Amino acid sequence: MPENNKNRADPFAGKALSQKEYTELTRALLSEKYPLGQPLAFVHTYGCQGNVSDSERIKGMLDEMGYGFTENVEEADFVLFNTCAVREHAEDRVFGNVGALKPVKSEKKDMIIALCGCMMQQPHIAEKIKKSYPFVNLVFGTFAISVFPELMYKTLRGGRRVFEITEKNEPVAEGLPVRRDSDFKAWLPIMYGCNNFCTYCIVPYVRGRERSRKLCAVIEEAKEIIAGGAKEITLLGQNVNSYGKGSGDGVGFPELLKMLNALEGDFRLRFMTSHPKDCTKELLDAMASCEKADRHLHLPFQSGNNRVLKAMNRGYTREKYLELISYAREVMPDISITSDIIVGFPGETYEEFLDTLSLIKEVKFTSLFTFIYSPRKGTRAAEMPDPVPYAEKSKWFSELLKAQEEIAAERSKSMLGKTYEVLVEGETKEKNGMLTGRTGGNINIDFPGDAALIGTFVKVKVTQAKNWLLTGEITE
Ligand code: 5AD
Ligand code: SF4
Repeated sequence: MPENNKNRADPFAGKALSQKEYTELTRALLSEKYPLGQPLAFVHTYGCQGNVSDSERIKGMLDEMGYGFTENVEEADFVLFNTCAVREHAEDRVFGNVGALKPVKSEKKDMIIALCGCMMQQPHIAEKIKKSYPFVNLVFGTFAISVFPELMYKTLRGGRRVFEITEKNEPVAEGLPVRRDSDFKAWLPIMYGCNNFCTYCIVPYVRGRERSRKLCAVIEEAKEIIAGGAKEITLLGQNVNSYGKGSGDGVGFPELLKMLNALEGDFRLRFMTSHPKDCTKELLDAMASCEKADRHLHLPFQSGNNRVLKAMNRGYTREKYLELISYAREVMPDISITSDIIVGFPGETYEEFLDTLSLIKEVKFTSLFTFIYSPRKGTRAAEMPDPVPYAEKSKWFSELLKAQEEIAAERSKSMLGKTYEVLVEGETKEKNGMLTGRTGGNINIDFPGDAALIGTFVKVKVTQAKNWLLTGEITE
């Protein structure tokens, strides 16, 4: 910030400006501050696809303000970490990475450092940043994304640090620009927030109550995505089954899926996350009737024991969950099912954990996201007695992983010799002439091929299956 700007009174202070006007003011400030070239932004995202999608909107706004983008934090003029609060480990990483910026900033005094997302929405975290990280210029929570241009303008005007973490119960802001990370895979948020209050989870506290986007906004964005050439659209929400509740459009999630399926174009539809409590046969029937809906269902069960499920406030039983799985397989025999599991919920015994183990052996999931319980300040579970030591929970966790590895290896073998339609996602990390792609069931296959195929559908025959690693060759 040039000195002359810092001391000049803000002629717009106290005026109600639109975010578009703030974007223009910020653009003007930036061209004054960087007369020789375009300022660069570095945006790093932690956590779930909801955050990735939010970052794409923030990047859209930065783009409109005149920022270019860099992957190198040291050359950035603006650094943003979009944070996750779901487990302690994610928070520790953020604190570590923010701390590492201190020497970078002391070399580059003009650098603006900003933090946003779920972690910042917690008052005790924002307070810690205020006190212990004085080099952070801007902190905003999940409710403030739509006023980001205003916050940027205030930050760039200089002088004071800007903190905005007020919880707002407002309808979803529409019309935000989007700068998508991929040309062929697109995230499409359909609802925000969560009303479920699972006792271990921080999300309802940091993302607020469920709010659905208007049907016309979702359809419009889907059309834009398809016109832009995307081959995969993932509908996002903490609980997609709640889509439409209270929005006044009268269209629920199964109908939405059918409406999107009816749009012209060569694309796949995916969605996450579906809650077993609200996942209905109607939804599974709708999925089965939509040829563009991938044969993949992510249905987190968290625990296979009914007492633990009740203590988690999940609202379903092991039996109800298994019934849903068998119905899904009845109407979509080729469906691939994935799930989330928490090991070591407060008070969980080894015998109760064994019910989780038996459930994964019974269902044979394609893959699992497994977590050791992490206490989250302010949640009900954080107040429950938790007598089992972490080391013991880690042993159960390893037992679970081992069982799942065997299941995955078995599943891989069953795919040998079969041909799948794969969306080519990129070159493998080794860049050894191999490409990597994903089947409609969300299973990765590597195969030799030309990089020009990235972003297209190809048919791949599986020729080798090593544990969960599949290799194949293009058949057409
Ligand atoms: N501890 C461990 N795992 C958690 N998850 C959510 N909250 C916690 C917690 N406190 C997991 C759940 C959820 C996934 C996104 O993260 O399995 O489905
Ligand atoms: Fe958290 Fe449960 Fe809501 Fe998922 S459904 S975000 S686990 S409270």
